[in-house]
Parts: sequence; C-alpha cells; structure tokens
Amino acid sequence: MAAATLADQLDAGTTALEAAGLPSARVDAEWLLAGLLGVGRVAVRLGLGHAAPAPLAERYADAVSRRARREPLQRILGWEEFRGVRVRLTDAVLVPRPETETLVEWALSLLPPPGDRRLVALDVGTGSGCIACALAAERPDLDVVAVDVSPAAVAVARENARALDLAPRVRVIAADLFDGIRDLRADLIVSNPPYLPSGLVPELPPEVRIHEPRLALDGGVDGLSVIRRIAIAARRFMRPLAALVVETAGGAQASATATLLREAGWDQVAVRADLVGIDRFVAGRA
Ligand SMILES: C[S@@+](CC[C@H](N)C(=O)[O-])C[C@H]1O[C@@H](n2cnc3c(N)ncnc32)[C@H](O)[C@@H]1O
Repeated sequence: MAAATLADQLDAGTTALEAAGLPSARVDAEWLLAGLLGVGRVAVRLGLGHAAPAPLAERYADAVSRRARREPLQRILGWEEFRGVRVRLTDAVLVPRPETETLVEWALSLLPPPGDRRLVALDVGTGSGCIACALAAERPDLDVVAVDVSPAAVAVARENARALDLAPRVRVIAADLFDGIRDLRADLIVSNPPYLPSGLVPELPPEVRIHEPRLALDGGVDGLSVIRRIAIAARRFMRPLAALVVETAGGAQASATATLLREAGWDQVAVRADLVGIDRFVAGRA
C-alpha cells in the first residue's frame, strides 16, 4: 500500500477491509488513520490532500491488516472512552461496551449522597478498570477496590488508574471474586462478570471469539456461574442497605439473576433495561 496522500491511504485501507468482509470498512479505515495521526475523524477528512510519510504508511498498513484479521478496532487503537475516562486496552482485557456505561449510571444513583464519611465501592471483574475508574472519577468521596482473577488484567487496570491520577483511590487486586477481601464493608458492589453460556462462545463474532479473553466472556453452562457466586457471597462485604448492581446477558438471564438475588436474601431487587430496551441490569439492597 505505497500511496502518496492520506486520501490514497484511506482508499487502500477501505478496499482491504471491504475485501475482508467488514461492513464498517470505511469508518474503520478512517478511525485507524485518525488513531495513528492522533486526531479525530473530521480532521482526517480535512487533511486528505496531505502527503502520507512512509513510516505512517507502513504503520497504517499494519493496522489495516490487524483489523482485516478481525482484531477489534479499539484494541488496535489501544484505547476506548468510557463515561469520559479513556482507558488503555491490551489483549488481556475486554473492550468496554457502551451498555456498561448504563450499569455505572445506575450504580452511581444507588450510592448514598456525599456526606461526612468516605464511601467504598467494590468492582468485581474489573478488566481494564473502566467501571472502577469511572466511578472514582465521578465521585471524589468514593474509594474503589477493583478485583480481577487475571493478573494481566490487574496490571492493565492498575496502569489505567495511575494514568488517570486515580491510583490512590482505585486499589486493584488479583483475586478470585472476594477471596482477597478481608475487612472491607462496601456501600456499593458493582460487577460486569463473564455471563455468556459456554456453548454460545463459539458462535460469537471473530472480534470477540478470537480476540477477547475467554475469562471475560464464559459464564459456564448457563452463563450464571459467576453471577450465582456473587449473589451468594457479596452480602458479607456490604454495609446495611448497600447496593449490588450486576450486568447480565439480558432478557431471560436478567430475570434469572433477579430470582437468584431474591433467593440469596437481597431486598428491593429490580431490573433495568439497556440502551436498546432489553432488560439487562439487576440490582438489590443488602
Ligand atoms: C465481562 S469482563 C468485564 C470487564 C470490565 N469490568 C468491563 O466492564 O469492561 C469480566 C471480567 O471478570 C474477570 N473475571 C472472571 N472470572 C473472575 C473471578 N472468578 N474473579 C474475579 N474476576 C473474574 C475477567 O478476567 C474479566 O476481566
């Protein structure tokens, strides 16, 4: 793809992604070029007549071929915006999804109002740390403990908290759910756990199936194995009336999760829909 201008690069990138069968070929080609240039997509369009230096052309060709192999766009760019915080991504973590921003919004609304004591939240399965960092960024009176069973994900979340100047208030620990937690009493526990039934994983698009960590996706035979454990174990770590908020696969799994929470003794169990109207998030009070 030796081409003279950014426009030529963009056309060549689009053609390569179309040939790979990507429905969003032009937009992805624009994002990749914008990412390499460190500008937005509009700036790319305005500068299409400029020459493309050889090192840029090489890096762009590499980015396009990664995308053609169905690596997620955000992974190639190396970051994603999540509720106003930018998190760095590696192959150890899930790309944050827009629907999870709704989980954070609901979680924030369930916190006590600012008062004279510091509040504590626990983010279970933190991945990139997007939820923990967004919570801490929006509530300066909140300290967050973020847990992930994957040491590689823990490293990414720690680095994101540090880069966002949130490290003193976002403590990231490697543990299987609550195993590393001792005396903590949280005002909020939030989790976007792995919730897909194992049998569904092979049917996912290649971006997810091949390129996202299986640990972030696979929730066991019925998708509920981690949610079930959280529903039973979380209450020990909560202050009275503290809230638990969990993301699910949606629909029937949201109702099943609500039932699990009620059976585990949670009060005020409620379900909320995501941006497209599917029941997806479930909350309860300790
Ligand atoms: C669906 S991803 C969510 C990542 C991030 N919170 C987000 O919303 O983008 C689930 C995360 O839970 C972690 N995880 C899976 N099983 C776990 C367990 N038993 N204990 C702690 N973390 C776990 C995975 O490593 C993964 O990072």
